[in-house]
Amino acid sequence: MYRLPTRCVHAGTIKDLKEKGINSPVYTSTAFGFVDQDGPIYPRYLNTPNVKAVAAKIAALEESETALVFSSGMAAISALLFTFLKQGDHVVFQKGLYGGTMHFVDQQLHRFGINYSIASSQSVTDMESAIRNETRLVYIETPSNPLLNITDIRAVAELASAKGIVSVVDNTFASPINQQPIRLGMDVVLHSATKYLGGHSDILAGAVATSRQLSEQILKTALNFGGSLNAITLYLLERSLKTLHLRVDRINRNAMQIAQFLDTHPKIRKVNYPGLSTHPGHIVATGQMKGFGGMLSFETEGQDALSFQKKLRLIKPAVSLGGLESICCSPALTSHRHLGAAGRRDEGIPEELIRLSVGIEDAEDLMADLDQAL
Ligand SMILES: Cc1ncc(COP(=O)(O)O)c(C=O)c1O
Repeated sequence: MYRLPTRCVHAGTIKDLKEKGINSPVYTSTAFGFVDQDGPIYPRYLNTPNVKAVAAKIAALEESETALVFSSGMAAISALLFTFLKQGDHVVFQKGLYGGTMHFVDQQLHRFGINYSIASSQSVTDMESAIRNETRLVYIETPSNPLLNITDIRAVAELASAKGIVSVVDNTFASPINQQPIRLGMDVVLHSATKYLGGHSDILAGAVATSRQLSEQILKTALNFGGSLNAITLYLLERSLKTLHLRVDRINRNAMQIAQFLDTHPKIRKVNYPGLSTHPGHIVATGQMKGFGGMLSFETEGQDALSFQKKLRLIKPAVSLGGLESICCSPALTSHRHLGAAGRRDEGIPEELIRLSVGIEDAEDLMADLDQAL
């Protein structure tokens, strides 16, 4: 098998046998001639040539047997959960998941008679004690949003395997360049491909990487839900994935430098970044991540989050993450707004917390901008 950077460039590319073009041809049709016994090709069935090309590249990066691509991260998450859960089932979620995931869980699962528990921490012991006879799935996200907490992936995979339940990890923050959970024993890896995989803040997409057996089950749900991706977005995603290793490499280095800079800054109270040796999850992160990623969060001393962000000149206050440009946001006003102050307190998210998605700019320019705003 080729190494990761080579797979980013070449895996899955459709051979252009007719014109010998280097890139995958883009098949924009929604109507395909019915030609063989494999059944009809139709975009919503997730079986067009461009769907297969991108799925093959993502599978090659995650080192899974196969992958599926979706119109958003939430389309992937909802198809996945409704594949493995039915009325009367129970699911265990890690504490501290992406706000949108928790909003979905909170709004949808009980309506369909599905019960859930949120483990009281990221520790596998807490997840184990939340498991019941009816538990079918355990769901984690590491590093987590916005506190960058680390969950021990191997321990969760072992627990799920011992209990005979499906293990799922949202790998959006790390990307397969930094973390490959299938190699650590997880059953299913999820992505909001809107973030690092897409990488240019211009497409919305999602992905699931897993075994052939589980993928066949998810596909049956997915084609009913209809969260498929169009050919042009697929092409943009394929193009973006070719530079994933370069972008993530640079972002890792920038983020580490910025985290160290903020950590010693007199106007900073706290920095959350798993690459710092003082981070409580640092040792576990070192055992399961090759790089620590581009996401960090911090609390300023004596300045509220809004006025701090208004002073920034280069870093833009904006939602989402994983793009080329550095952006920041206040989770209390954006991703975790719906929790309310009490809910955020319960999740350990300070009102003044600022989350930073570090881009590929020059790290010195980014630090100078943070410094002048502080
Ligand atoms: C960790 C994580 N998972 C899932 C999602 C949902 O993805 P999307 O917005 O592409 O539906 C997001 C979005 O911010 C996210 O940050």
